[in-house]
Parts: sequence; C-alpha cells; structure tokens
Amino acid sequence: MNNTFANDILKGLTAKKKHLSSKYFYDDNGSRIFQEIMQMPEYYLTDSEFEILSLQSKQIVEALEFKQPFNIIELGAGDGFKTFKLLEYLVNAEIEFNYVPIDISQEAITILSNKLKERLPKLSIQPKVGDYFEVLNEESKNEIPSLLLFLGSNIGNYLKDEAINLLKLFNQNMNVNDKLLIGIDLKKNPLTIHNAYFDKEGVTKRFNLNLLIRINRELNADFKIDDFDFYCHYNPVNGEVKSYIVSLKTQTVEIKKLDVTIEFDQNELIWTELSKKYDLNEIEALAGEANFSINNNFLDCKHYFTDSLWVKKA
Ligand code: AVI
Repeated sequence: MNNTFANDILKGLTAKKKHLSSKYFYDDNGSRIFQEIMQMPEYYLTDSEFEILSLQSKQIVEALEFKQPFNIIELGAGDGFKTFKLLEYLVNAEIEFNYVPIDISQEAITILSNKLKERLPKLSIQPKVGDYFEVLNEESKNEIPSLLLFLGSNIGNYLKDEAINLLKLFNQNMNVNDKLLIGIDLKKNPLTIHNAYFDKEGVTKRFNLNLLIRINRELNADFKIDDFDFYCHYNPVNGEVKSYIVSLKTQTVEIKKLDVTIEFDQNELIWTELSKKYDLNEIEALAGEANFSINNNFLDCKHYFTDSLWVKKA
C-alpha cells in the first residue's frame, strides 16, 4: 500500500474542515472518467486547447526561435490527444526535434508511444516513465534547447503557493532561453464555467465519488456512496471553482486500514478540488514570481483558454 496516500487521507478526513486531494482522483477508473469529462461538450477546456494547437502550432514554433534539433518535453503527457496537432505540424514541416513525453504511468506512456509511432512514423520519440524533475534535470544537462509542455490547465489544480513552487522547480530545471508552454483556463462567463464542472449528466459527480470507492478498496473503508453527493461552486471574483463531496446524513465511516472511524454531520463537506481560472494580468504576475517572462499568449477564438509561452529569465 502507498503510505503517502494513506497518510494524506487520514490527515484530510480528520481535519476540522475535511479535505481530500484531487491528485488522488486518477486511479484507473478515475482516469477513465476524466477521459469522459474531456469528451463532454460542456467541458470546453479540451476543445479550446485543441483549437489553439490545431490552428496556431506554426506561430508557436516560430516564437520559440530555437536552433534545430530541439526537445519537446511534455510533463504528464497522458493520452497526448491535444499535443498530437503540434507534433503533426512539426513532422510535416520537417523540423528536427525529439519528443520526450513523461508520465508516471507506464501504461499511459506505452499506449501513447504505440499510437504515435503508428500515426507519425517519422517522429523521434523518447518516452520516459518517472518523476518529472529527475527527467528534466537529466535533459537540462545537454546543450539542446527545450520546450516544456504543461498543458490542460493542470496548473489550475494547485493552490497559489504550490503553483509558484512547482513553476519555480520547472524553472530551476531549465536552461536560459528554454521555454515553457503552459495551458491555462481563463475567467469567462461564470455560467460557462459552472456548467463545465456541474454537468447535468453527473459525470463530474462520479469523478469525485470515485475517490470514496478508491478509499473503500485500498484502505478497507465502508463509505456508502449513495449517502454522499457532489456540489461545486464557481466564484467569479477570485476565479476559483471549488468542488466538494457532501454527506447527506449524519453517519460514521470506518476505515479499517487506518484504524479510524470518521464522523460526518448531515451536509458536512469534504473539499476535493480547486480549479482556478486566471486572467491575463494574473498570468503575468504568476510568470514573474517564478522567474519567467511571457513571450506570447496563444488564445482560442472564443478567448476561453490560453497556451501561454514563457521564457526562462537569465
Ligand atoms: C485535470 N484538471 C485540469 C481538471 C480541471 O478542469 O480542473 C480536472 C477536472 N475536474 C473536474 N473536471 C475536470
């Protein structure tokens, strides 16, 4: 059993205000539900970023001003669906580069590599399984310039200080003039955002409640899933979507592997996720705090999303 998981669950459920981290959503089942979310019409983020990379890859590559060959290192490559458009552009334009997708899941990397070898046989790909920073550190030792990809608005799931620390770590593992293309979801009509996270089909609800199923399985707990619901709220003032699991009644849950019984009041919340939306001024401030300057923001036509190109400052 993974100890960090057990410790984090214990800490979160015994806190005065209960919380669980959304990073634990992604077991095999959770990853499948996330694929479903990305295919929902309400979840505009995927389509927006796909449009940016479909229509603006040429402009993005020109803005890099890299000598060839260069590396494209993707952090948390997943199924690589969006990135495909960028890779396809580069291969067709006969630009010399290596694609280095990094993911902690061997399975995800194998599927991605096989798919890419089939669809882009001329692509030079060096997949890596493991910790982002170990791989980044290795790559920064060679002279070849690198573009880091951190797509999908993953940065939105980090609290402000955590986001800055993560970006600083990226920065420290890059060489001067290396670049970072970071996908960030923008503030927009609050209803559009609300509908993306509070979908009528209840897919996002399943995504959240799956974490209780995971705790039941991995920590031998007895959460009765039907006695919990899902709620989420977008605050357009600070750009935060916050997601919660709600206890529908006063109840106790036993977690055998942790040797604890957790008590819930009726309507008590477990905070599960932050999905922060930014405006362009906040993005500039974020980049500055992590020692980057912004080269360009590549927006989709509805201005819902940006792939923001950052340069490591000297
Ligand atoms: C992975 N991450 C950027 C997603 C998001 O939009 O915050 C996860 C997600 N949560 C609910 N729907 C999608």
